[in-house]
Amino acid sequence: MQPHDKLFTPGPVEVSAKTMAAFSRPMIGHRGGAFKNLYRDIHPRLQALFYTGQPVFLSTTSAWGVMEGSIRNLAGRSVLCCMCGAFSDKWLDVARRCGKDAEPLQVEWGKHIYPKELDRALASGKFDTVTLIHNETSTGVMNPLPEICCTLAKYPDVVLILDTVSSFSAMKIDMDALGIDVMLTGSQKALALPPGFSLFSVSEKAFSRAEKQKDRGYYLDFLEFKKQQEGWMTPTTPSIGHIFALQSKLEDIFEEGLDARYNRHQRTNALVHDWVQNAGFDFFAEENFRSKTLTCVANNKNIDVLAMAKALREKHHLVIDPGYGKRRGKTFRLSNMGDETEETVSHLLACLDDVLR
Ligand SMILES: Cc1ncc(COP(=O)(O)O)c(C=O)c1O
Repeated sequence: MQPHDKLFTPGPVEVSAKTMAAFSRPMIGHRGGAFKNLYRDIHPRLQALFYTGQPVFLSTTSAWGVMEGSIRNLAGRSVLCCMCGAFSDKWLDVARRCGKDAEPLQVEWGKHIYPKELDRALASGKFDTVTLIHNETSTGVMNPLPEICCTLAKYPDVVLILDTVSSFSAMKIDMDALGIDVMLTGSQKALALPPGFSLFSVSEKAFSRAEKQKDRGYYLDFLEFKKQQEGWMTPTTPSIGHIFALQSKLEDIFEEGLDARYNRHQRTNALVHDWVQNAGFDFFAEENFRSKTLTCVANNKNIDVLAMAKALREKHHLVIDPGYGKRRGKTFRLSNMGDETEETVSHLLACLDDVLR
């Protein structure tokens, strides 16, 4: 491959040459035996990564397709949107644009969702659907999923739609044990695939809800996905290149081993955390609720973040994110997702030291 600027942004991330080679394999038809064999081959490993016995679906949309599709398939009475950053905030807007009655459960950016507040809101009996982002990529906050799922278990008529876009495959998220109804992720984060593709799984409870739902549409109708998956197909022509790339990535993931993979993300994340503290920066996300896959650094030293990111790109061919939306320049984000190792993350941190000097 030509020398290129390497992405340490919290998605998209660097895609390996092996994955890119799989992505560009010669095409196959999506209704033939070769495709069915491909889907059949990857499915048990996808179920293992989702920790589910439910079918796992392949969606040729970015994550927002499934996020919006989940609302269309499931939201009946009213949606409660847990909001703690740019992506979770936007879900309220998306639910309302789908014509649903939706209300916020909002905390300040940098804070996590409080299970007690969720409990209070659900006790009103108004809501039948909850949206939650496990790892809010804009702020670097990881929400307390087991505690939140414990609260939700008190409300069996409520379905939980969980976005694991920036945490999936970097840590264990046990869909079935936690009682998650829709769990979705995107391709371009910890899976280190090209962007534009997503994966999701749906509980029996959520399928029953979808059956009663009018206006599910077609492209993202969960029941169409279910029917087609039973014959190892997708409702419409999928991005076959992504599925070849996914097959190759699953080989890498299971060769490394799930625990080893999760531990690697922990270790590279700890390296970034040490660097933040040694360099005299603060964390934007509150303590005990920090992501394991990216770090949102608070610019308490008032450096010129954009100049730092530019120098890093020009001098070292490394790309970081200079803060999301309204936090641009006031924070910056460093990713340790995907294939990164202690060696590559240490290199990033040394280059950051160099441009900050
Ligand atoms: C947590 C989270 N959810 C949703 C999205 C939206 O993903 P996409 O733009 O790929 O649809 C992102 C993208 O960064 C994200 O980080």
